[in-house]
Amino acid sequence: GLVTSTEMFKKAYEGKYAVGAFNVNDMEIIQGIVEAAQEEQAPLILQVSAGARKYANPVYLKKLVEAAVETTDLDICLHLDHGADFEICKSCVDGGFTSVMIDGSKYPFEENIALTKKVADYAHDHGVVVEAELGKLAGIEDAVNVGDHEASFTDPDEAVEFVERTGCDSLAITIGTSHGAFKFKGTPKLDFPRLEKISGLLPGYPLVLHGSSSVPKEFVDLCNQYGGAIPGAQGVPEDMLREAAKWGVCKINIDTDLRLAMTASIRKVFVEQPQVFDPREYLGPGRAAIKAMVAHKLKDVLGCAGKL
Ligand code: G3H
Ligand code: 13P
Ligand code: ZN
Ligand code: NA
Repeated sequence: GLVTSTEMFKKAYEGKYAVGAFNVNDMEIIQGIVEAAQEEQAPLILQVSAGARKYANPVYLKKLVEAAVETTDLDICLHLDHGADFEICKSCVDGGFTSVMIDGSKYPFEENIALTKKVADYAHDHGVVVEAELGKLAGIEDAVNVGDHEASFTDPDEAVEFVERTGCDSLAITIGTSHGAFKFKGTPKLDFPRLEKISGLLPGYPLVLHGSSSVPKEFVDLCNQYGGAIPGAQGVPEDMLREAAKWGVCKINIDTDLRLAMTASIRKVFVEQPQVFDPREYLGPGRAAIKAMVAHKLKDVLGCAGKL
């Protein structure tokens, strides 16, 4: 059924694995992810951004996720990704989402707390859980110097105060991941000592890692081979995600890898079969590539396969 992430996170925390949170924008993406989760018998979070709502219409996305629930035996959490203000969170709570993220990370500490608490109070009154974010999501390489990136990463003591004062149900932290396909210029590096410190101060509490695509070389190479131009793309090595899952990280966000899987396979069809113009003949392979990629994540990286 459609569920909150509460039970999923409790089991993930205890089992030292993470639940995958995948961004959805259309039917093929949803079907690819859901088919993989069904085969792997994995708990699943499908997340919708403001951009996804604008692209697909919130009603369509909600109905597609309902179709996924109806055609499987899965427990699925329907989550708003990066809610920017109270209004979009309220709209999702009222529209049947089971989880919302309020992203007040760009605001000063006290404003982030006030906004997050307002959303948490409303959501909790309606049986919906809330993810919040503390710290600015940017790669280590984005900072001008060490002091800059240290300042943008989540402060462990602030994290404890933030969780206590807002009542948020999970917390996205920043330890060096970033959104998109270009996460590191040199060697990938995450601040694991910081994660261990935060996790140690918040025992039993579910943490969230955004920007966790690994940008598989095979997809980047296929894109570039078949007419694309995404040189220098680099993601979070899968070993680092496995490690993070042992330290209180219960939700790992993946969008870019879905985009790369779909685009690589569609580019391949277009180049190898120029006579094709039936969308099913390229969206089908796109969906299949997403399914295979997600199955790999669930089984070999997140550790949530078989944990339904
Ligand atoms: O956080 C970013 C996610 O990848 C969603 O991206 O806002 O383009 O839908 P989007
Ligand atoms: P990626 O860009 O690494 O897939 O991160 C997605 C994300 O964090 C969505 O909130
Ligand atoms: Zn994110
Ligand atoms: Na975990």
